[in-house]
Formats: sequence, structure tokens, C-alpha cells
Amino acid sequence: MTNLETEALAAGGALAAFLAGRLLLIRRVRRVEDWMRRARRGEPPPASELPGRGLLAPLAHEAARLVRSLIDARAVAEQEARLRQLGDSLWTPERLREHVRAKLSGRPLVVVANREPYRHVRRGGRVEVETPASGLVTGLEPLLRACGGTWIAHGDGDADFASADASGRLRVPPEQPQYSLRRVRLQEEDARGYYEGFSNEGLWPLCHIAHTRPVFRAADWAAYRKVNETFADAVLHEIDGQEEPCVLVQDYHFTLLPRLLKRRRPDARVALFWHIPWPNPEAFGICPWQKELLDGLLGADVIGFHTQDHCNNFLDTVDRFLESRVDRARFAVTRDGSATAVRPFPISVDFAESPSEDPVARAAADRRSVLKETGAEAIVVGVDRLDYTKGILERFRAVERFFEKNPDWAGRLTLVQIGAPSRGGLQDYRDFAERVRAEAARVNARFGGGAPPISLRTRHHTHEEIRRYYRSADACLVTSLHDGMNLVAKEFVASRDDEDGVLILSRFAGAARELRDALIVNPYDVDEVSSAIAATIGMAPNERALRMTRLRRQVRENNVYRWAADQITELAAVRLPAPSATAPGATAL
Ligand code: F6P
Repeated sequence: MTNLETEALAAGGALAAFLAGRLLLIRRVRRVEDWMRRARRGEPPPASELPGRGLLAPLAHEAARLVRSLIDARAVAEQEARLRQLGDSLWTPERLREHVRAKLSGRPLVVVANREPYRHVRRGGRVEVETPASGLVTGLEPLLRACGGTWIAHGDGDADFASADASGRLRVPPEQPQYSLRRVRLQEEDARGYYEGFSNEGLWPLCHIAHTRPVFRAADWAAYRKVNETFADAVLHEIDGQEEPCVLVQDYHFTLLPRLLKRRRPDARVALFWHIPWPNPEAFGICPWQKELLDGLLGADVIGFHTQDHCNNFLDTVDRFLESRVDRARFAVTRDGSATAVRPFPISVDFAESPSEDPVARAAADRRSVLKETGAEAIVVGVDRLDYTKGILERFRAVERFFEKNPDWAGRLTLVQIGAPSRGGLQDYRDFAERVRAEAARVNARFGGGAPPISLRTRHHTHEEIRRYYRSADACLVTSLHDGMNLVAKEFVASRDDEDGVLILSRFAGAARELRDALIVNPYDVDEVSSAIAATIGMAPNERALRMTRLRRQVRENNVYRWAADQITELAAVRLPAPSATAPGATAL
């Protein structure tokens, strides 16, 4: 081999080595590049795939560290976003308190409701405090507890005024006072005409399509007007001296109150929340004082209903009977130059009610004790006021049908029906309670032996007593023939922190719009309800858990604090008329 050939070979070898080295380097750079790209996409391969030796090792090492910190930063950001999202969707008492303070610039809340949250009654020579069975109280109490303020209500307990100061005022809750309760005293005859007569024999059946005829009497109407005026005086007294006070009026007992208030305090922000359904114009049209009621309501700046359907019915009714401008695009009514916003605010419950370290063990213990108490193997629970709109008789017939179709369950399944005494001053309600007792006895006699098909408890129960039944039940039956919302459905869901239990829910309750993971039934269809009971008994545990988890998410995110916050937001956005010559806050009492 000549020198030239040797040199050429060496040069070729060097070139080949250079090219091989270059290729290797390119491959390694590509590996680092590919590794970094995959890491950037959020699929980091193991660091062992990076070159561990050679020229690129320090670079790869640095790249791995950089990527690691990017991954950590991304995880932290994601976690923060998740928490922020949860924070946005979760309303708590603290958050509501801040919200109300900011929106109302520290002004106190004034709530007006017929029903009081605490009632003092004499029993066996002692005075006891009672919490009335009332969806309204369940909904409003958390708001007042969180934000403070004054709740003005009819004091109808026989020891109410003996337990308050000279102006009917006391601080409540009795065990840990957080807000003021101001009791209004009514003459017995006025209370009868306004509450039992016009409100509960007239408006209640008028708004609930449950096939009970409304009764309208002129004397009841006169009492209703008088009592609305009495309450207007109480509110005006309460807000005297306050600039732009904020008043939340509740329910069908006070249709005239918003107008009465606004006439004397145009600077007040007034909202009215209607806790029951609003019927269609044809149904509403049979009320002889339809115009007066609508005009009174339209004194409010904001009127709230549980569902959009009720808002629509209300707008249709106003359109039909009253001279006004109904703006369906903005959901507002303008009458005599002032506007009322009409909005759906679905009421709810305080979700975090009774925390437990081990919810599953607690539910199991409750279940064991209720099964022992009833002698049953399966429990279905119903919790209602003894009211004909709640579908209690239809429910009993569905239970009867269940035993007809599933005779092997006779003596093994019990419906625990809690029936809170209600409106006992009315003959219709006393008769209804009797029919409920007779019907339970009839079904029990038919399927005697073993556990009773229906265990009826017609006394007042505390929240804690009721929660024990909720937690022990295979299913909760809510079969209202018509209901604004029905908070029993949401209370049942809130109490099931063991993520078990099935909700059977009437499609005619407002709650059916939100609680889609319940078994939705027609309460008049006895066969359908009995099949739903059978379905809950046979439902696979994972389906029960899935349904309950989704129900709980819905109620948790749409709790009562959100309900209150949404109303306050709407009310705070109201543009009040420019102040007139009269100094704001001055009331001619
Ligand atoms: O849900 C309608 C309603 O009137 C509520 O205001 C109240 O919670 C419930 O019925 C109980 O009625 P009452 O206050 O007549 O006992």
C-alpha cells in the first residue's frame, strides 16, 4: 500500500468515525428533543431514556430537571384551578356573609314570613321551644344564621310573647343567638281569616293543582288585607332610619306587602319569594281579587319562584289580568313606571349538616337500630306535613300494590311515614289526618304478620330524629301531587353522606327539575310508584352509589347559600328611583 493509499484510508476511517459520531450525536440530540417534546405534552417518558453518558449527559440531566420542575408547576397550577373552580361553585355561610356585606354595603337584612323559626309552647306546665316543620324555615334559617338581621313573623305559640321582650323581640337560635326574631301579635279572628281562610283555604289550593277547591270569602280577604297592613307597619318600624333597606318578603301570605312597603319607602329594595307553585292564568283567574294580588306583588323589585315554569305562568297571568308591560326577553314587568324582575331561584338546603368521621358506619348503625325498631329487613321513608298536596294516601296505595305484586316481602318491608301535624285549625286538615291514619290501618290489617307495611308517626320530630330515618332507609318516597320545590328530597340527599339510598321523586315537585338521578314517578300512578319501590330493593349497590353521588354533587353545588346569594345579587342590582325631596330613611309612621 502506498503512502497515499494509507493516508486516504486513514482519512476515510476518520471521516467514517466522524460521520458515525455525528450520527450518534444527532440520534442522542433527537432523543433528548423527543423526550422533551413528550414531556411538554404531559406524557413524560422515564428519565432513564435520556442519555446518561457522554457529551450530552450534563445537558440531558439539566433537561430532566427543567422538565421535572415544569411538571410540578403544572400540577400545582392544575390543583389551584381545581380548587378555584370548586371555590366558585361552592357557597358556604362565610362566603354568603361576605357577599351580602359587600352587595348591601353592610345594611342589615329584614326577612318577613308568616311562619317563625322558633315557637314557644306550653307543655305540661313547662315552656318548650319548637322548630316548625316548614320548608320555608329550612331554607331561610341558614341565611339568617350566616348573615344576621331580623326575621319578622306571626307569633302563634301560646308562650311566644311571654318569652320575648315588650316589643315581641328575642335573639335566636336559643342555644346560640345569631339574629333577631320579631314576633307580630295578631287578633285571633284576623289570624284565622288571613292564615286559615284566605291563605290556606283560598290561595293554597288555588296554586296547588291537587283537586281541592279553593274557598274565597270576603271576610277572609278583609282579614288578609288587614294583616298585610299590620306587617307593613312592623317592617316600616324595623327599617325606620335605614337608608335603602333590604326586605325579603316570603310567600303567599304577603302578596300585598311589597306594594304597601314601596308606597311608603320607595328607597327600599324589596324582593318576594313565592314558595309554592304559580298556576296558569285560567286557574288563577277564579280568584275574585286577582288584580289586587298581582298589583301588590308587583310592588316588589324582584319576584322569585322555584322554577322557570312558575315564572312563565306568572308572566302569563300578569299579561292576562293587569295593565302592564310584560317583557319576556328580560323576564320583567313594568307597571306605573316601575319594573319588577321575575326570576327562578331554586331553593335548597344547607348541605354540610351533620359531619361524621365515618359516615358509612354511622348509616349502618342507624339502619340496624331502625330495622330492630320496626322488625323489618328493608325500610322506605316518607317525611311530610299532613297535607293533601303531599300524596300520602296515594303513597300508601302504592305500598299496598307493592305487597300485592311482591307478597314474599309482606312482613319484611316497612314504610316509616313521619306525618308532622299541620294546619290543625282547619277541618279539612283534621279530616285528612284521620284519613291518613285510617288508610295506614287498612293496609296494615291487610298485610298483617311480621313488620307492619306502614309505620305511621304523626307527631313533631326534630331534624336529628328525621335524619336517623333518612340514613337508615333503602329509599325515600316523595310523592307530592304538586309542590313548589320539596326540600325533603334535598334533605334526604344531603343526609346520605354514606353515598347510598335511592330517592323516588314525584315529577310534579319542583325538585324533579334538578334531581335527575332520582327515580322520577307520577304519584297518581300507583303501579309506577310500586314498581319504583321494587326497583330500589333490587338495585345494584354500584348503581345506587352512582345515583346518590350525582344527586349529592347537584345539591352540594346548588345549596341554600347559593339560593340566597343569587337573590341578593339580583336585588342589589336594582336601580332605585332618584331620592325625592323626602330625606331617605324617614318614614311617616
Ligand atoms: O311551602 C309552602 C309553605 O307555606 C311554606 O311557607 C311553609 O314552609 C309550609 O308551607 C308550611 O306551612 P305552614 O307555615 O302553614 O305550616
